Amino acid sequence: MHPNAVMLAAVLLGNLMLLPFISAQNAGFVKSPMSETKLTGDTFELYCDVVGNPTPEIQWWYAEINRADSFKQLWDGARKRRVSINTAYGTNGVSVLGITRLTLEDSGTYECRASNDPRRNDLRQNPAITWIRAQATISVLQKPKINASDQTILSADTSGKPVTLQCNLTTAHTAHKDSFWMKNGQKIPNTQTEQKNTAYRITKPRADDSGEYMCVYTFDMAPNANATIEVKAKPDITGHKRSENKNEGENAMLYCKSVGYPHPTWTWRKVDGTSYTDIDNSTGRFFITNRDNYTELNILNLDINTDPGLYECNATNVIGNTAQTTILRVRSHLAPLWPFLGVLAEIIILVVIIVVYEKRKRPDDIIDDDEPVGPMKTNSTNNHKDKNIRQRNTK
Ligand SMILES: *[C@@H]1O[C@H](CO)[C@@H](O)[C@H](O)[C@H]1NC(C)=O
Ligand SMILES: *[C@@H]1O[C@H](CO)[C@@H](O)[C@H](O)[C@H]1NC(C)=O
Ligand SMILES: *[C@@H]1O[C@H](CO)[C@@H](O)[C@H](O)[C@H]1NC(C)=O
Ligand SMILES: *[C@@H]1O[C@H](CO)[C@@H](O)[C@H](O)[C@H]1NC(C)=O
Ligand SMILES: *[C@@H]1O[C@H](CO)[C@@H](O)[C@H](O)[C@H]1NC(C)=O
Ligand SMILES: *[C@@H]1O[C@H](CO)[C@@H](O)[C@H](O)[C@H]1NC(C)=O
Repeated sequence: MHPNAVMLAAVLLGNLMLLPFISAQNAGFVKSPMSETKLTGDTFELYCDVVGNPTPEIQWWYAEINRADSFKQLWDGARKRRVSINTAYGTNGVSVLGITRLTLEDSGTYECRASNDPRRNDLRQNPAITWIRAQATISVLQKPKINASDQTILSADTSGKPVTLQCNLTTAHTAHKDSFWMKNGQKIPNTQTEQKNTAYRITKPRADDSGEYMCVYTFDMAPNANATIEVKAKPDITGHKRSENKNEGENAMLYCKSVGYPHPTWTWRKVDGTSYTDIDNSTGRFFITNRDNYTELNILNLDINTDPGLYECNATNVIGNTAQTTILRVRSHLAPLWPFLGVLAEIIILVVIIVVYEKRKRPDDIIDDDEPVGPMKTNSTNNHKDKNIRQRNTK
């Protein structure tokens, strides 16, 4: 080998060996797990984020409350697969410990341990020196019991009859603070009460009143408890275009809006008398976009022969279905020109009439001129002369 190459190799090797040594860094926590209070049946996740060079190894350990001497290592799939551990090693080491379907026995101290010490797995070393630790206490409380009304269906024959939704807090780990009602994830104002039994009354139910209702009980230093009551109703289409007028080649947009829970599935079809054609995206010219309570049909590059007609949107949920129609009119390209063409036609006809009239009249005129002058003609020639004289005079 060339001596220079050997030297270069030696320098490179030296650098490579020095590199980890120079920038080596002890493990340190960027984010450590946080203590929490949870209810039985719920889920918790603890996060641990560690820096260091080389990237530290992360482990999770557990000890029952007040048994700090008895830590046991946790592994992915422990406790009948309720425990999950997901760790990613990059520039940082990041690990998430998750436990699902919590039981009272899951209460305790959870510890994130991290180390990049080369001696960390040497049994002769004291782990307290080679590993850094961060702890979080998880308290699991018995989930309060709420006795709630069954789901309600607002139908045509019960509409107008008031509906009362009830929640009774039957057991709780500690005394509750208060309670309130929510609809579709939004707090309903003025429903706060301190009673164990709470009710929400819909005095004149309409499709609009259907939705996901929830009573929520709050506690000091513990998570909320809640129960969900579904109020269902047939979809009601509250907004649509009655008609749409467009020119051929343009795009048309038809839409329908609905109320009624659960949110409907939407379909569109074109109605031709008693038969109909279902519309979907496959043609490349019709595009249907559906949101929970809204549907939009876009028709591109309107065809005057096939597109005009009656379009129907149909909203269907478990309770029933409703449909509404929109009339689509498509005008010819020439339509905007029609008024102009009308005027043009009138002008042409007028010109033709004048020309024809003039042609028929001319021979008579010539004869007239040759014939002895009538009183009218005399006057007119005299007038001309007068005019000429006057013009000369003014000069
Ligand atoms: C819940 O309410 C129903 C009546 O709505 C009643 O029959 C039942 O006993 C209640 N359960 C509890 C635990 O209070
Ligand atoms: C709640 O308790 C009241 C009595 O306070 C009772 O009339 C009602 O049926 C209970 N409702 C439910 C859903 O348990
Ligand atoms: C309702 O209870 C569930 C389960 O305990 C909980 O995850 C959720 O955050 C609660 N929702 C509200 C609004 O309190
Ligand atoms: C449709 O749903 C959206 C959000 O889901 C809501 O903001 C809007 O008020 C709803 N419109 C109607 C007519 O229910
Ligand atoms: C139809 O196409 C539009 C636009 O590409 C898309 O947003 C929509 O989700 C499609 N709808 C269906 C029902 O596939
Ligand atoms: C709406 O669609 C459903 C399901 O395709 C159908 O059973 C129902 O007859 C339609 N309703 C109307 C009013 O067209």
